[in-house]
Amino acid sequence: VPEQKVSEQTQQSLERANLFKSIKDDLKKVEQNLLEKLPSESGPLAEIIKFVMSSKGKRLRPALALLCGHLTNSGLPLASEHYTLAELTELIHTASLVHDDVLDEAASRRGEQTCHLKWGTKVSIIVGDFLFAQASVKLGELNNTEVVKIYAKVLSDLCTGEIIQAQQRFELNSINWTTYLNKSISKTASLFAAATKSAAILNKQNTEVIEQMHSYGLNLGIAFQLIDDLIDFTSTAEELGKPAMGDLSQGIFTAPTLYALENSQFKDDLKELIISRFVEPTSIDKARELIEASGAFEKTKELANSYIQKAFVSLNSFPENAYKKDLIDLGKFVLSRIS
Ligand code: IPE
Ligand code: IPE
Ligand code: MG
Ligand code: MG
Repeated sequence: VPEQKVSEQTQQSLERANLFKSIKDDLKKVEQNLLEKLPSESGPLAEIIKFVMSSKGKRLRPALALLCGHLTNSGLPLASEHYTLAELTELIHTASLVHDDVLDEAASRRGEQTCHLKWGTKVSIIVGDFLFAQASVKLGELNNTEVVKIYAKVLSDLCTGEIIQAQQRFELNSINWTTYLNKSISKTASLFAAATKSAAILNKQNTEVIEQMHSYGLNLGIAFQLIDDLIDFTSTAEELGKPAMGDLSQGIFTAPTLYALENSQFKDDLKELIISRFVEPTSIDKARELIEASGAFEKTKELANSYIQKAFVSLNSFPENAYKKDLIDLGKFVLSRIS
């Protein structure tokens, strides 16, 4: 079954990239806790929560919390707080995906049918809320007001990002680079940065170290969303494990579209197709071709690369070790990924 292969593919691509070697055991522990330690085990949501949490995500965000935790811990073993941080970060991410798929009416996620298609929209809203609530419980367990404030802002940012995106659908006049990048920070980079920054805070690091970790996570997160927006155009649904070509067809204008709209040779034809809302069955393919021919894909990759380079600069003052190597490899992986 091709759908099953997708999650295997994701895992294989992570392994091929040789990622997260330094935290293999830590990640196993986090994975186990995510699957076994949620208090819904006997409740009515049990089956659904298990399905959602056991689906094969890349687990990039927990990996970030763990790697940055190690990097800023002077070689000491991690405290239990870092595992909690890693888990709650993945819970928030997964919750946001369940809700995002309702908003986007997406049919697949992580190579499986989406929660709302399997169990309905109402259940999906509750499942997402339940996961957010579990993340909040874990956040409380950290007993750290600074981290609580950071994650409270993340939750608010996630909503803001989704609201801005919904409001701007097909609104050619309100979209520009500033609104697009701010939305990407709200939807994605804010959570990346929370994980990397909070990992340093839990290690009681000084302001400078905390700021460097924040900058690494923020820039990596922006690059990650840029590449996600690019591969929405360039990969197949089978490779992605989620729908492809969804953004443009739903009127969500991301970096490749913005670049193409800056190109005087292509912008008028592209605008015409957008204004038609792609009613003609062939028009979405035409739009894709115009965007590709304009050189927008290369430009998007270049822009993502510039954010990755910024992220790398934030790692300069840290000692060379396996954790730093994994953080650098993660940046390279983000640029090279197709799923
Ligand atoms: C998907 O994130 C949502 C975006 C921020 C683009 P991931 O690509 O990290 O999703 P999973 O967790 O691996 O499924
Ligand atoms: C990220 O953006 C979604 C969230 C952070 C909730 P996308 O809308 O691009 O995510 P995908 O492409 O559906 O995974
Ligand atoms: Mg989506
Ligand atoms: Mg996307």
